[in-house]
Amino acid sequence: MKPISLIQFLIEERRAGHVNAELSLLIEVVARACKRIAVATNKGAIGGVLGEAGTGNIQGEAQKKLDVISNEILLEANAWGGQLAACASEEMEDPQPIPDMYPKGNHLLLFDPLDGSSNIDVNISVGTIFSVLRCPDGVTNPKAEHFLQAGTTQLAAGYVVYGPATVLVLTFGHGTHEFTLDREVGSFILSRRDIRIPEETGEFAINMSNQRHWEAPMQRYIGELLAGKDGPRGRDFNMRWVASMVADVHRIITRGGVFFYPLDAKIKSKGGKLRLMYEANPMAFIIEQAGGAATTGRGRLLELQPTGLHQRVPVFLGSKKEVEVATHYHVEAD
Ligand code: AHG
Repeated sequence: MKPISLIQFLIEERRAGHVNAELSLLIEVVARACKRIAVATNKGAIGGVLGEAGTGNIQGEAQKKLDVISNEILLEANAWGGQLAACASEEMEDPQPIPDMYPKGNHLLLFDPLDGSSNIDVNISVGTIFSVLRCPDGVTNPKAEHFLQAGTTQLAAGYVVYGPATVLVLTFGHGTHEFTLDREVGSFILSRRDIRIPEETGEFAINMSNQRHWEAPMQRYIGELLAGKDGPRGRDFNMRWVASMVADVHRIITRGGVFFYPLDAKIKSKGGKLRLMYEANPMAFIIEQAGGAATTGRGRLLELQPTGLHQRVPVFLGSKKEVEVATHYHVEAD
């Protein structure tokens, strides 16, 4: 079969009425920026891009050089495109307005430019996560409050994983699709259309070092998985944890599984570890569109009304049946 490029796919989606011209162009611009980030990450030590930038982000975390480079690439690529009213990044305190010299559009773009960046220096997969919202009508200079829309309102979401291959996974709310970067040609090529995550799984992802800090329902759920075929679940489960959400989610998108970053005593005051607007919402949209489920442990993630641009939340996502069991244990205990 003739390969289908991302651009061809976007034209088809426009013809099907799933996206308008402006949104499809915006995705092309984001994908082009991610190709540049892939080039920068691939250079590794010889590109002089490894190590600390010597700065901190809004979350108070030390920034890697590649965090800063990726953020700049995405900001610069998207400023002039004409599809955006503003951008918000996990790396910046406030939304970035579109400079006056460029035309403005009516979309809002949110991104985590380089998720899992603690993995860069050890050459393990990292990624970019993004989400697109509509700018509220009549707002010409969007502020943080205009980004605070529930995940159900997302027009598009995607991630790019910079691994052995560079892969883009995308949804417009009409299924989840995967594109693989053909480095020689320089194009993203459709590699899987309408991905489906199996409802059942025998594989879970969680940072077990936090076990003693978890809430009781999480202790119970994971305890039961670890008990294997002699425990209440009656079968063995396997565990994986990359510590790059993009890589863990990509495994789930590929062969099923569940991912948890639950609340624990260490992070309770922050509300969780992962960021709602830059990580949880886009991943939840992608997972649901592939037939999986995503919750906060207490309710559907996409229905949570955001209260802050950098808000953190607990995240349970992946194969439906396991997300439901773990969520049920939490709801039942409340
Ligand atoms: P960061 O981008 O700051 O490296 O955070 C990575 C996120 C997410 O990608 C990953 O699933 C999780 O944090 C890993 O957390 P632990 O280090 O606590 O395992």
